[in-house]
Amino acid sequence: MELIYLNWYELALNAVKYEVLGTPRNRDIRKLVLTGMGGSGIVCDAVYAAMYGKSKIPITIVKDFQPPGWVDPTTLVCGISYSGNTLETLSNVSKSLEMGAELCVVSSGGSLIEMAESGGIPHVVIDGGLPPRAAFPQLLIATAKVLSTYGIIVHDDLEGVVEILKSVDTAVATSKELAEFLNESIPIIISNTRYYPLALRFKDELNENSKMIAKIEIIPEWAHNDIVGWEKPVNIDIIRALVLWDDDPLLEFAVDYLKGSGVKLRVLNPPGNDILSRILYGSLVAGLTSTYVAELRGVKAEETKSIEKYKDFLRGRALPAR
Ligand code: PA5
Repeated sequence: MELIYLNWYELALNAVKYEVLGTPRNRDIRKLVLTGMGGSGIVCDAVYAAMYGKSKIPITIVKDFQPPGWVDPTTLVCGISYSGNTLETLSNVSKSLEMGAELCVVSSGGSLIEMAESGGIPHVVIDGGLPPRAAFPQLLIATAKVLSTYGIIVHDDLEGVVEILKSVDTAVATSKELAEFLNESIPIIISNTRYYPLALRFKDELNENSKMIAKIEIIPEWAHNDIVGWEKPVNIDIIRALVLWDDDPLLEFAVDYLKGSGVKLRVLNPPGNDILSRILYGSLVAGLTSTYVAELRGVKAEETKSIEKYKDFLRGRALPAR
């Protein structure tokens, strides 16, 4: 797993060359739905964050089986699934198709690519054979590419944005230190709303690679509920707070406040010129940190038996109506 993360720059650079296959039926898109789960779904959050201030159309993320009732032929539904067989994503995509939506797809294969190929749906086939979460840069770049065929620009310099992944030595040093800090704790990852995808990514990586329970708190919402819990925390010795830094006075307040509670705390300030490069670099640190914690804990980072158990449970059942 570590080697895959260390190789992210090369993998990402290769993804910049991916080709978009298929042809849009309708380029006049008024609404965008991004759908995917877990290590594929995080791409939806990263795209949403990168587009938040600049998108002229509303963007919604769906991480469940059912698309929203307003999906129609002016809605682009982008299905992202590394395996191409995740049932929530497949259900969303096929129901959106029935509702007349324009579709596009990113996957390494499976039913999603079969559906795209047979329907001439715009799609990008990414390289397979990795644990889905370890393919984050490829999934992200492929999604940006397929969306660009509709004039939806996530970033205008994809080759430039992946340059940040060259800073491997610094990422390794930071991650080793963070792994020692987070090992055998309940990590709480704290960010502002802008960096929610990175906080979620960090939590997910600690869950899946390190087999740890972790939670996230997002500011300013944190200051309207969770903040009160710190007035009398239960066993603060087991908690570690990791604050993802942004130039934001609310984070300064949060750091001061949390330090006052006596919790052990670190601040991670990912380098990068824009939100996407900072999310990419931060995700590299999250990936490496979680594999180093896995080593310290004696667990296999690449194995996610419980997710397979859930997927086995779903197979052959009627999909939940929502
Ligand atoms: O990282 C993982 O292995 C999971 O979070 C998967 O991404 C998740 O189960 C969804 O599968 P897929 O990415 O193949 O759609």
